[in-house]
This record gives sequence, C-alpha cells and structure tokens, in this order.
Amino acid sequence: MVLDKEKLDQKQLEKVAAAARLLKEGGIVAFPTETVYGLGADATNTDAVRKVYEIKQRPTDHPLIVHIGHITQLDYWAQEIPEAAWLLARHFWPGPLTLILRRSPHIPDCVTGGQDTVGIRLPAHPVALKLLNMIGPNKAIAAPSANLYGRISPTTAAHVSTTLNNKIDMILDGGACKVGLESTIISFEHGTVFLLRPGGIPVSAIESVLNKPVISHKSKTPVTRVPGALPSHYAPTTPLQLFHLPELIQTANKLAAQNLHTVVITWSEINSSQLSAPNIQHVRMSRDPVHYGQHLYALLHRYDQAPYNYILMETPPELPAWLAISDRLQRASYAHL
Ligand code: TXA
Ligand code: MG
Repeated sequence: MVLDKEKLDQKQLEKVAAAARLLKEGGIVAFPTETVYGLGADATNTDAVRKVYEIKQRPTDHPLIVHIGHITQLDYWAQEIPEAAWLLARHFWPGPLTLILRRSPHIPDCVTGGQDTVGIRLPAHPVALKLLNMIGPNKAIAAPSANLYGRISPTTAAHVSTTLNNKIDMILDGGACKVGLESTIISFEHGTVFLLRPGGIPVSAIESVLNKPVISHKSKTPVTRVPGALPSHYAPTTPLQLFHLPELIQTANKLAAQNLHTVVITWSEINSSQLSAPNIQHVRMSRDPVHYGQHLYALLHRYDQAPYNYILMETPPELPAWLAISDRLQRASYAHL
C-alpha cells in the first residue's frame, strides 16, 4: 500500500509525542490506523496490556495484534518466520495484513492469550507509524480495535470517544480510516497458508504474490450457535438483518405497516416507490466493495445511534472481493437470526 505523502504538522507531532510518553508510562492510547482505530498499550508492559482487556471487556484468551514500526523488527517479535511470511510482509507492509507467527520470548503471555503464536502487523497510517517510531527501539504496540468487545470497530476518533472517552488516557485523531475494515489475518502451518480473517487485503492479491492457494481456516473449536446466548461480533445494538432484495423490500414494508422504523441499506438501485413509507429510510451504498468497505462501519455507527427499530441490509454479492464485508455482516446479524 502506498503511504500518504502528507507530513504531520507541528501540532500533530506534539500530540503523537505526548501519546508516546503516555504509552511508555503504561497508559492506554487510542490511535488511528488505515483499517480501524486501535486501543494501544506498550506490548512489553503486562499491566498496561491487562488494562486493554479490561477496558474492552474482552476475554483474556482472545489475543491482541502486536503493531510494529518497521519490517526489520519482525524477527525481534517472532521467530522461525517462513519465507512466505517475509514475502507477504515485504509486499504488503505497511498495510492491512496481520501475520500469525511463532512468538519470540519478548512477547508477554497476556498479549497472546497464552498461545505460542503472535499476530504482527505494520500499519500504513502516518500517525501510527510516527507513534511506533517514537516509543523507542524494541518497543511495539499491542492493540485490538478500539471498541467494546463484540461491537462495531471505530473508523473515526468520534466513534472511539462515544464509548471509551473517559476510560482511556488519550485519543489520537488521524481522521477517517481509509480502508475501513480490519486487516486480513494469515497463518502458516507446515507449508500451507491459511486465511483466519478476510480483511483489507484481498485473498487473490495474497495468492498472486505467493503463487499458491490460501486455504480458508474455520475455527477449530466451533461455538454453539445459540441466538442471543453468545455475543455476536462487529454488531450494532439495533437488530441488524440481511436479506436478498425482494425479501428486503417486503420486510421493510411489513415492519413499516406495524409502525416500526427501519433503515434499509442496499448496494442495488431501488425504485423509491418500492420503499415509500415515511418510517423507512433508504440508504444506497456503492457497488464497489472498496468504497462500500470504507463507509460500512461509519454508516452502522450512525444508524445504530439513531432511533431505528431495525437495520435491514441487502446481502452482499457472493464474490471474492466482497468476502470481508460478507464476513462482518454475517457476524453483525448473528444475534438476530
Ligand atoms: O486491522 C486490524 O487488524 C485492527 C487494527 C487496530 O490493527 N486490529 C484488530 O484487532 O482488528 P482485534 O483484536 O479486534 O482483532 C484481532 C484478531 C482477533 O480475532 C484475534 O483472535 C486474532 O486477531 N489474533 C490475534 N493474535 C492471534 C494469534 N496468535 N492466533 C490467532 N489469532 C490471533
Ligand atoms: Mg476487533
């Protein structure tokens, strides 16, 4: 990914320097990346990392990604790095790609949830990179997305402050995230490359760099699908449901007749007469998955805060370029099936 040419101005530099000081003192700082905002702690400070889990209300066996400032730091934090991982790092970093690798002794247990692997990423955002460079040598930032566990990831500083403002030491504002969806997560086992989470880098791009297939890796310990009993992920608090177009229109009109307020989000064009009830708000998104992905979370945050009874969304196209979007929307609608 090409980095922004824009240089940080003096005021931004001072804020980043203040954030770096806070991190070194064990503070918690929300910071922008090109994917979503992260909730950062010094990856070598066990107490600070524990605070991140606490603030996020995240189970401690759910590992954090370690963010580094330069590719040369990769073999400080990871070991036995396969050539395929180097190849991907050289090609896609800085960028929305997380590599799961065998962890080095420098990584505390609490970062990895006790596993012997660690997720590592070099983000492509000038503020994140400056921050990583300012915290000093042999330092990295352990960070999950800066949202409460199970909720929608933040793509602006305002999204972070709505839920976490008084719980953390600082929010660095770096504008709206350009990718808008989390990083693609890749792991390596016995020469096979697995996709753990679709994200900002399309699988096809990874396959063409490696010149071999990437295998989709479903969780080895499937969770029981009990609606409502388990937290859904990437979910708004307003019930969200996915439908193909004809059923979507039918459902919105049925709910409108019951005096319920719905927002209907489509990528297809719809004749406005099909959704004419006053308590239906129709939002037309882009047909381009890159643009759609950029705006998806911001849209969900906006309509989740508005007084709607339902968010009804058009099922995304079943095409590889929509994989990350489909994955997030399926999880967002999970609790309401
Ligand atoms: O784009 C992103 O990846 C953002 C930005 C802030 O970098 N971060 C992010 O972090 O999405 P989080 O914590 O919300 O999601 C990280 C995912 C989790 O599902 C976690 O289980 C997985 O990465 N993960 C982290 N370390 C892992 C490991 N060692 N093995 C398997 N999965 C791992
Ligand atoms: Mg997250």
